[in-house]
Amino acid sequence: MSTVAVILAAGLGTRMKSTLPKVLHPVLGDASLLWVLRALPSSVSAAVLVLHHGKAQVEEALQAWEKLGLLPCPITTVDQETPLGTGHAVQQAIPELDRLSPERVVILSGDVPLLRRESIDRLTAQNAVLLAMELNDPTGYGRVLRRTDGSLQGIVEQKDASEEIRSLRLVNGGAYALPWKALRPALAGLTNANAQKEYYLTDAVAAVAAQLPVQIELCEASELMGMNSRLDQAELQRLAQKRINAHWMAQGVTLLAPERTVIGPMVVLAQDVLIEPNVRLEGRVRVGSGTRLGQGCVFRDCQIGCGAEVRPYCVGTSAAIGDGAKVGPFAHLREGTLLENDVHLGNFVETKKAHLKAGAKANHLSYLGDCEIGERTNIGAGFITCNYDGARKHRTLIGRDVFIGSDCQAVAPLAIGDGAMTAAGTTLTKDVPADALALARTPQVNREHLAARLRERR
Ligand code: UD1
Ligand code: MG
Repeated sequence: MSTVAVILAAGLGTRMKSTLPKVLHPVLGDASLLWVLRALPSSVSAAVLVLHHGKAQVEEALQAWEKLGLLPCPITTVDQETPLGTGHAVQQAIPELDRLSPERVVILSGDVPLLRRESIDRLTAQNAVLLAMELNDPTGYGRVLRRTDGSLQGIVEQKDASEEIRSLRLVNGGAYALPWKALRPALAGLTNANAQKEYYLTDAVAAVAAQLPVQIELCEASELMGMNSRLDQAELQRLAQKRINAHWMAQGVTLLAPERTVIGPMVVLAQDVLIEPNVRLEGRVRVGSGTRLGQGCVFRDCQIGCGAEVRPYCVGTSAAIGDGAKVGPFAHLREGTLLENDVHLGNFVETKKAHLKAGAKANHLSYLGDCEIGERTNIGAGFITCNYDGARKHRTLIGRDVFIGSDCQAVAPLAIGDGAMTAAGTTLTKDVPADALALARTPQVNREHLAARLRERR
C-alpha cells in the first residue's frame, strides 16, 4: 500500500525560548526532525513537512541533510501561514497529498524524536491506527475513548474534557496512519468549535473512526515524548543515551561509564571498542574493532580504524584515523585530516587538511595544515607549517622517510624530497631536494666569561 508521511513542524515552540525552530534543536547532536525523518521505514515513499516558524532555517537544514544522503525519501514542504491547530496543519498538505495520491497517510510530529522505526511499522501494518500511551499523569494530552471492541471512538482534548474524561489515563500519542480516501473528506469537514478555537486533527481522526475501525496501538511513553522545553530536551537526551548505549553494549562495546558517554544515533561502533568516560561521538562517526577512545574525547563525523589508540582529550571533526594509529593525548584533528595506518600523532598537535601517510610520526607540539607527509617521515617537536600568508593558504609537501628536526617552520608553498633532513631550528623558505640536508641558522657565537661578568655587574 503506498504510504506518504505528513510531519507537523509549524509550531513556534514558545517554551524553548529560542531563535532556533524547535524541530532543529538537537538530541545527542542530531536535530529532532532528523531523528523523525531517519525513523521513516522504506514503506514510506515520500514525506510532506508542514512548516512555518523558521521555515527557511528548516529548509536549509533539509538541503544539508539531502547532500549528506541522510534523507530516506523525497521531501516537500508546505507553509502553514497561521498555525490554527493540528488539523489545519494537515489541511495545508492536502494539495501535496492530492498530487502524490497515496493510499495511506502517516502523520507524525517533528518534535517527537524518539519514535522507533518499529513503532512506525506497527502504524503501517494495519489499515487505520493511532498510537496511544498510558500515563500516570495524563494532564495536557488528548484522552482516548475506546469502543467495546477496543477500536477508537474519539479523542477529547484536555481543555474540552469533563472531569470524568480527564480521569482517563489512555492518551493520544499524536501519531496516526489513516487511509487518505477517508481522511481527506474528514479534514475538509473540520470546524474550530472547541475550547481552543483550533482545527483539531483529532476530530478528523474521530470522523474517520466513525466510518471504519481505527485500531489503538499502545506505545512506550518515552517514544512519544515531545520536546516542548529545555527540560524536555534534557530528558529526551537522557532517554536516547540510555537506549543507544544499551544497544552498543549488547553489540560488544565496553563503556567504562555509560551514564557519562554520549553516542549519537548515527554512530557505528565495531565489536571490542572500548570507550572511557566522558567521550562524546556525534554525527557520522565510525569506530573499528579493538579501538580504544580515551577519556574526554569528542569526535564529530570521523572515521576511526581498527586497533587504534586515541588517548584522552582529543577532538576531531571530519577526520579519518587509520588502523593501529596512536593519537593524543590532547590532539586536535580538524576537517580534512587523514591519518593512515600506524600514524603517531602526539600531544598538542593540531592538523587541518593534513594527510599523514602510513607510519608517519608527529609526536609533539605541531601545527600541520594543508600538507602531505610521506610514509615513515618523522616530524620533530614544534614543527609548524606556515600555510597562511594572510590572504591565501599554501601547501607543504613532505616526502617519505624525511627527518624534520625540532622547531622547524615550513613557509609554504614548499616541497621536501624523499629522505631529506632539516636541521633543528631551520626556517624553510625554499624546496629541499631528496636526500639533502637543509640548514638555516644564524651561526652560534660564544663570548667567554660574559655571563659571569653580567651577573657581577647586577
Ligand atoms: C496534540 C493532540 C493531542 C495529543 C498530543 C500528543 C490535537 C488537537 N491534539 O496535542 O490529542 O495528546 O498532540 O502530543 O491534535 N502543529 C502545527 N501547526 C499547528 C499546531 C501544531 O504544525 O497549528 C504541530 C506542532 O508543532 C507539533 C504538533 O503539531 O509538532 C503537535 O502540536 P501540539 O501543539 O503539541 O499538540 P497538542 O495540542 O499538544
Ligand atoms: Mg504537544
